[in-house]
Amino acid sequence: QSHTITVEPLGREVECREDQSILDACLRSGVWLPHSCTHGTCATCKADVLEGEVDHGAASSFALMDYERDEGKLLPCTARPRSDVVIEADIDVDDSVEVFPVQDYTATVVELTEIARETVRLVVELDREIGFNAGQYLKFQVPAADGLPAVDRTWSIASPPTEARRLEFHVRRVPGGRGTDGWVFGGLAVGDTVAVSGPYGRFVLRTGDDRHAVLVGGGTGLAPLKSMLRHALENGEYEGHLTLYQGARTREWLYDVDYFRSLAARFPSQFTYRPCLSEESAADCGDEAGRYGFGMVTDVIAADHESLSGCSGYLCGPPPMVEAALKTLMGKRLFPRDIHREEFFNES
Ligand code: FES
Repeated sequence: QSHTITVEPLGREVECREDQSILDACLRSGVWLPHSCTHGTCATCKADVLEGEVDHGAASSFALMDYERDEGKLLPCTARPRSDVVIEADIDVDDSVEVFPVQDYTATVVELTEIARETVRLVVELDREIGFNAGQYLKFQVPAADGLPAVDRTWSIASPPTEARRLEFHVRRVPGGRGTDGWVFGGLAVGDTVAVSGPYGRFVLRTGDDRHAVLVGGGTGLAPLKSMLRHALENGEYEGHLTLYQGARTREWLYDVDYFRSLAARFPSQFTYRPCLSEESAADCGDEAGRYGFGMVTDVIAADHESLSGCSGYLCGPPPMVEAALKTLMGKRLFPRDIHREEFFNES
């Protein structure tokens, strides 16, 4: 059985099955709602129920407190309709970002290569083309195993939207993680097929912009930034300068360094590349020392720039890095509204 969801203030109507989340129904119909974790823990999607009944499903009691439920709040990512429902969501209408409806695809693994310590490059080929914005992510269905049900894991696309069937991802092993340790690092092989869906997220390169964009990535937080940079430079989709700060503990955790160096050589007036090492010193790197910044990525940014007034920022990585980089950029006079960010939660 399905019900009609009316999304205010857009006035759009979508059909939603009783066993489907309201967020899923909206994204599949091309109606964008804010979201991040998509499973009831981050509260990004929180909205108001104006009319109708919902089952709150797996909404965590931290993301949606009891009194909020009583006041008529819901998390569209977990809520399922029990009648026709009218919701009001906090939608920032940003026309510069195209909305691509979420769809299901079958992906075949075509490459799985170790590229740094505990890190692999996963390349898949989809059964058909997908539309997405540089910076968005896909959901992978980790199959049921050892009596455990199938679960979803999300990874950002590292390749540009012009490569619409062959998609690249960077996956870091999380010890004990069901999707990484237990699956990508635990037996997934070239030739395997995987159910995926997407695209999700709104950590997206604003291509209509021509300001200096400062991109900061920690660990595999590099992935969406690589998609953005390739789209900006190789596809000529961005007018302004772009600077990439890539943070890692030591050289063995860094990857794609040669690729970004060659990109900087190809676009010397438009792209600056700054790989940064927090646990190695210039002395450790010997002859190579001139190629790196030393210290936390935020220290290197702070030393490189007197002011970043008039720039935009794109931050992706573990929450503490994103938080620190946000503070650093704001300290350099960037407005919070010009800083886009995506945090990786350590559950993989
Ligand atoms: Fe995170 Fe809904 S998207 S709680």
